[in-house]
Amino acid sequence: MTSAAVLVAAGSGERLGADRPKAFVVVGGRPMWEWSLAALAAAEIDRVVTVVPPGTELPGGVAGGDTRSESVRNGLQALPREVDRVVVHDAARPLVTPDLFARCLSELEAGADAAIAAARVTDTVKEAGEDRVVVRTHDRSRLWSIQTPQAFRRAVLERALAQPDAVVRAATDDAMLVEALGGRVVVVESSPANFKVTTPHDLEVAELLLGRPAGGRG
Ligand code: C5P
Repeated sequence: MTSAAVLVAAGSGERLGADRPKAFVVVGGRPMWEWSLAALAAAEIDRVVTVVPPGTELPGGVAGGDTRSESVRNGLQALPREVDRVVVHDAARPLVTPDLFARCLSELEAGADAAIAAARVTDTVKEAGEDRVVVRTHDRSRLWSIQTPQAFRRAVLERALAQPDAVVRAATDDAMLVEALGGRVVVVESSPANFKVTTPHDLEVAELLLGRPAGGRG
């Protein structure tokens, strides 16, 4: 059993409004993607393909696509054949912990096709129409807010990403594509601390947490 990671860092990060792609914005004294690389190394996952915006030079990096799923597909193709477990992680989640990678991968050993980090939903979630009129309140005890890392059996992820382009482009996470094929996807409990840096506010919070003395997560 050989594990490797695909670190997706090819997004433009328009909502952040920075002067460079989001994963390359400096937070806590390092480009954002380096925090995830350090967590992967601490989890002893040392085969990592980093997917970067086309035209960006990074040793060992591969060029991303127009959508996140296409970037994952490019990263997956660059992994050596002997890799049979793949963990996909967003470079935009620099607060990930090494332990979370390990817990996701161990669920594959227990029989899952995919194991995905997720935080329990603490707010009440309602569904409303275009007119803002509420049509439903969901049972929050069964709701999970999905994050990365997401660990997959490689063959399953390859099949999932081989679905028609329109299906792949529309996916907001990779596990969704596995679900569409009837795969067994399990959630691995994580914390809201593993948030995705999307807005300037998120970046300020990440800077406060990672810029602390003692190198961040201490
Ligand atoms: O856009 P969003 O914040 O959801 O992106 C999540 C992750 O996917 C980020 O780390 C981003 O760099 C990556 N991504 C990518 N290729 C794209 C779009 C997003 O690698 N085309």
